Amino acid sequence: MNTTPSHFPLNAWYAAAYDVEVGRSLLARTICNQKMVLYRQTGGAVAALEDACWHRLLPLSMGRLEGDEVVCGYHGLVYNAEGRCTHMPSQETLNPSACVRVFPVLEKHRFIWVWPGDPALADPALVPDLHWNHDPAWAADGKMIRVQCDYRLVVDNLMDLTHEAFVHGSSIGNRAVAEAPFVATHGERTAVVTRWMEGIEAPPFWAGQIQQARGYSGPVDRWQIIRFEAPCTVAIDVGVAPAGSGAPQGDRSQGVNGFVLNTITPETGNTCLYFWAFARNYCLEEQRLTHQLREGVASIFREDELVLEAQQRAIEEHPDHKFYNLNIDAGAMWARRLIDRMVESERGGSPSTVIPIRRAS
Ligand code: FES
Ligand SMILES: [Fe+2]
Repeated sequence: MNTTPSHFPLNAWYAAAYDVEVGRSLLARTICNQKMVLYRQTGGAVAALEDACWHRLLPLSMGRLEGDEVVCGYHGLVYNAEGRCTHMPSQETLNPSACVRVFPVLEKHRFIWVWPGDPALADPALVPDLHWNHDPAWAADGKMIRVQCDYRLVVDNLMDLTHEAFVHGSSIGNRAVAEAPFVATHGERTAVVTRWMEGIEAPPFWAGQIQQARGYSGPVDRWQIIRFEAPCTVAIDVGVAPAGSGAPQGDRSQGVNGFVLNTITPETGNTCLYFWAFARNYCLEEQRLTHQLREGVASIFREDELVLEAQQRAIEEHPDHKFYNLNIDAGAMWARRLIDRMVESERGGSPSTVIPIRRAS
């Protein structure tokens, strides 16, 4: 296992699984270096227990589910959803210390969220906003991929979409993205990068969408508004509207709008679970389009995955390399500062002393 200090806060909600992944079987997941087992109880609620039996540490995920309880696959100790042992073989008295840790868990926006830190701080109001994933005004679907990189590299990737021109040139990227100016702002837990490209030729993906949904072909005003919510959620408001139809001023009624929803859960310091979805507000009834979009985005993200994993390997080969930040890195820089603040406040340190960020002049 990776031994470098971890750069993720523990006191946060992390997506552990898509809702459909958790059913009446035992699902093992590692979140922030902590192994857990998830399952759905008969009433539908999800439980998340430490994945190690109190008796001899066999992962409970190797056992089986019996009603709402987990039976260890070695000597048969039984645990309920609160992590308490309810049965031991060949003895009637249960050792009162026989329990495993339980993690706060909740289900929202089609994800199962767990809180690996202090349970007393697990406030449901802190679940990141990804409501487009289940809102009836939007049609959405997505996937999860396991990426062999530090989760922050995925955040960096999403905070600067200049890379579209170079990594995704055949689908969503064109030179307009790399050349357009942008504005980066930030709050206490959020950072936003806004980029408008007015009167441009639509890239192939968006040209197809606006043609299909609105019957329009011609120059467009395109937007990308990237909103980061610390520590690891990025919702990107994207779309195009006929050039001059008022989208930059707030009237998107003639355009097509999508949201690229991303939440990236660190498994360890150098692997992560990348959950994403694409939501749209047009042609809502067309399930075929939902499927096509999901598969299309999956192949776009495959391009990112190759870059991110190669980057992670290169970082490990050059442990002393310092990154120089360019103007295009402003959004990622703020995202990292907000992450560092959360990590440092958990360690009781001063946030201003973490990772100096060198500015491009
Ligand atoms: S290791 Fe689980 S019952 Fe013995
Ligand atoms: Fe990308």
